[in-house]
Formats: sequence, structure tokens, C-alpha cells
Amino acid sequence: MSNTEHPVLVVDLGAQYAQLIARRVREAHVYSEIVPSTITAAEVAAKAPGAIILSGGPSSVYEPGSPSIDTAIYDLGIPILGICYGAQLLARDLGGTVEATGRGEYGRTTLAVSAADHLLASWPDEVTVWMSHGDAITAGPAGSVSLASTPEAPVAAFSDEARRIFGVQFHPEVAHTDRGQELISTFLHDLAGLAPTWTNVSIIEQEVAKVQAQVGDAKVLCALSGGVDSAVAAALVHKAIGDQLTCVFVDTGLMRSDEGAQVEETFLNQFHIDLIHVRAADRFFDALAGVTDPERKRKIIGELFIRIFEEVARDLGAGTGGEGPKYLVQGTLYPDVIESGSGHAANIKSHHNVGGLPEDLDFELCEPLRALFKDEVRAVGEELGLPEHIVWRQPFPGPGLAVRIVGEVTPERAEILRNADAVVVDEIKKAGLYRKLWQSFAVLPAVRTVGVMGDGRTYAYPIIIRAVTSDDAMTADWARLPYDVVETIANRLINEVEGVNRVALDVTSKPPGTIEWE
Ligand code: XMP
Repeated sequence: MSNTEHPVLVVDLGAQYAQLIARRVREAHVYSEIVPSTITAAEVAAKAPGAIILSGGPSSVYEPGSPSIDTAIYDLGIPILGICYGAQLLARDLGGTVEATGRGEYGRTTLAVSAADHLLASWPDEVTVWMSHGDAITAGPAGSVSLASTPEAPVAAFSDEARRIFGVQFHPEVAHTDRGQELISTFLHDLAGLAPTWTNVSIIEQEVAKVQAQVGDAKVLCALSGGVDSAVAAALVHKAIGDQLTCVFVDTGLMRSDEGAQVEETFLNQFHIDLIHVRAADRFFDALAGVTDPERKRKIIGELFIRIFEEVARDLGAGTGGEGPKYLVQGTLYPDVIESGSGHAANIKSHHNVGGLPEDLDFELCEPLRALFKDEVRAVGEELGLPEHIVWRQPFPGPGLAVRIVGEVTPERAEILRNADAVVVDEIKKAGLYRKLWQSFAVLPAVRTVGVMGDGRTYAYPIIIRAVTSDDAMTADWARLPYDVVETIANRLINEVEGVNRVALDVTSKPPGTIEWE
């Protein structure tokens, strides 16, 4: 039975955990989709799911207006696992009881296993789990058996094997819960009978078939940014349709060190993809001359990028109704298209889609990563043979170095920043921190300061080191880089990068700061 024909539906009951649960299901090699809690039983039935997982949520099941699900879903005979709030909902709706005990449990707790069976098959007597609840289940659904308890949760896990309805008060999806992933696998594979067939290879086969079916023998265009999403999308589409694909890499003069060369090396030399490398730095610097306002800079870059892309597309015959490209590849990912618990589509950060779409060219979109999470995109990229430095590259903004150059963007200032950035990244990699950090880069402010080097006075730019940890870029913490790494970076920046005589460290989290400086 194919995963995608029978997805596991993760019902989002309002916590931040639904995406994490969906990812854990996929790590168990079963395809998952997130659906809003407003989904009806008929809509669920139409999706023919292999199983349903009810997520956690911040509310109390007895609060007026707290999220519920269509109770007819319980009668569809589909295996259900409730997690935290989801488990309480099962208890409330199916003849159990949930009570406000007045003492919640938040964080690490010891689970006492009373029946190492079903969901908790062969678990030891005590297991560390992660809890976050105010109310507690005091009786599971009618007909269920209790499997475990904690000091504040009399029924911390229950099972009704006949109806295939299961619940846990703790959070198996978080890393702090021992055996959490095992529990999810047990539910999916053993209790719901779903085969672990969602693998990198099967993802690629499936997406390749979809792309082939979608585009037929039409020509397809893809704008490569140097980032992982567009790179993996291009490699996947190339696997599907070979030389029907043309990639366009616009060098804005605002790319990271070596970025253009690496894109050429990978896509042209290794993959033999038809690649058009547009060297447009002069046009971007001309357009940016004298501009200091951050939003103006972004707008200028975005618009010029579209214009250049459009020129290339027209040269290739797009929009003429003839043989030119009809499809445009976009690296849209699953988190961009998930509907949230409230039923509203997630906001796509519009300013993050530099390039946009030349509207009058009438392209149809080809989005081969639309079903994937970022970690899956990386795994697929590796499977397709993309090099590590592309697959594991940290995120980079569409407007490139321009949003890290405060004040005017000139070729000289871009060069200083590019050289400084290469030093920061090099040392972060040498320290083994590159993959642990969300982003780590250099920023060039619009001030110069006095220094002394050798016998002479200098008057040059400072470089600011910006390094953050984050899960999704919505919030971020400044990274506590080891002082010896900071020191090495500072020494190298001052000694090796012409035009730099001082180094500072940005210790601002987001909020209140943003990750980029503009
Ligand atoms: P901020 O600076 O808003 O950035 O905290 C959040 C994340 O988004 C990236 N970023 C962009 N990405 N086009 C993009 O494709 C953009 O215009 C853009 N601006 C910021 C930033 O690098 C960080 O990962």
C-alpha cells in the first residue's frame, strides 16, 4: 500500500507540535499530512488515511471554544493516536474523564509503566518522558486499558486495541522523551499496520513520476539561487526530464564567495544540466548606486532580478506560445503550504521570494518539493548526489549580501563583506559549528572607526559577526560562540581582509532583532 495514497493525518489542535509530529511520522518512513481540526469526517474518509494522530494543544478540553474534532471521525475505523491534548479529547469524547487536578506537569517526568504492551510494548518499568499539561486523564476511553502513569497523570497512556484507539499524555515527538520515536513507530507499523515505505528513494521515484506526468515533453525553466531548495528542485526535475530543463543562475554580484563557481561546477560539470550563467553584477551595482534605504534596496534587487530572468526566458522563447519553456520550477516546501489549526493557510513571507514570477509570461508552476520538509529536501539532495556544500549550506537571503551591507552597496564594499564572510564561515566550519548554527555570517556597517596597525593610524570598517541558533528563523538566539573561535575570526578578519580594522559580535536575539541587519 503506497504511503501517499493512505497518508497519516496529523490533526493540528493548536500547538506548535503538529509539524514536529508530522516529521517524526516521516522519520518512521510513513507519509504524513497536517490537517486543520475543522476537517469533517467525510473529508477525512475521502483522504483514505492509514492512521490519524491528534496533536497536543494549549487549551483545556473543557474550556468553551477549545478545539474539538468531528466525532464521526471516531466511527471510521481508522487507527487513532492522541497526544497530550489529543489524548484528553479522546478520553472526553469516548467515555473517559479528564479533570483539572490543579497541579500540572511541565518538563521531564518519570513514567511508571504498568503494562509493557501495545503502544509501550517491551518498555522498562520506568522511562523519562516530556510532559506539558494542566488537566489530567483520570479514566481512559470506555473499553481502554491504562498502560502507565506519572505522579500527576493517573492515566498517562491508554490503549483500546479492539477499536485501535490509543493515547499518551506525554509528548513522544520531542527528543527529551526516551523511546518517543519508538512509540510512534510502534503505533504506525505494528498497531496501524502501515509499511515503512516512505524513503528517500521512494520520494525521488514518486516526484520524478509526478514531474514527468505534469510537464510531458514541455520545456521547463528553473532559477538557481545557490540555496539548497532550488538546487534540489533542479536536480530532481533534471532526473525526471533531462535536457528539457534549463537552469538560470543570475550572479547579482551580491552572492557569497565562490557561489557562482560552485553552481557551475555542480550543475554544469557534474550534472550536465543546461545552465545559463548571467553575469549581471554591474547592472545590480548601477541600480543600487546611492541607495541606502533597506526596503528600496530589496525592491530594486527583486525587480531587477525578475527583469533579467524575464529577458532570459524571452530569449528562450517563453510566452510566445511556441516551443519555449512553459513551466517554472519553484522550491516551495511543505511548511509553506500547510494549513494551520485555525484553517488559514500559513503566511508565505512575500519578501522572501525574491525573483517572484514574471506574471505576463504565463508560466505554470512545477513544485517538486511541495510535500517535503527541509530535512527531507536535504536527504533527497544527498541521495541525488548533490555535494555537501550545497546540501548543507546555511540559508541565504534572496537579496544576498545587500541586506548585510548597511548603507550604500558598492562593488568595493560588497568585496570587503564577501571576503569577511568567507573568513567567518571558514572558521565556523573548522570549529565544527557550521551545521549546528542556523546562520553564521559577517555584516558590514556604514561607519568607519580609527585603529592602529604597525606604526600607522587606520580608518576603516568594522565587521560584525552574526551567528544564531534557530529552528525556523521565526525566532532565534544569538549563538554563544567559544571565545577562542571569536578570537581566531577577529584576528583573521583584521589581518587578511583589506579595509577592516575592528570586529564586534552581535548579541541580539530575534525578537527584538532580526537575523539579517536589514
Ligand atoms: P530575518 O532577518 O527577517 O530573516 O530575521 C529570517 C530568515 O529569512 C532570511 N531572509 C530572506 N530570505 N529573501 C530570502 O529568501 C529575503 O529577502 C530574506 N530576508 C531575510 C534570513 O536569512 C533568515 O534566514
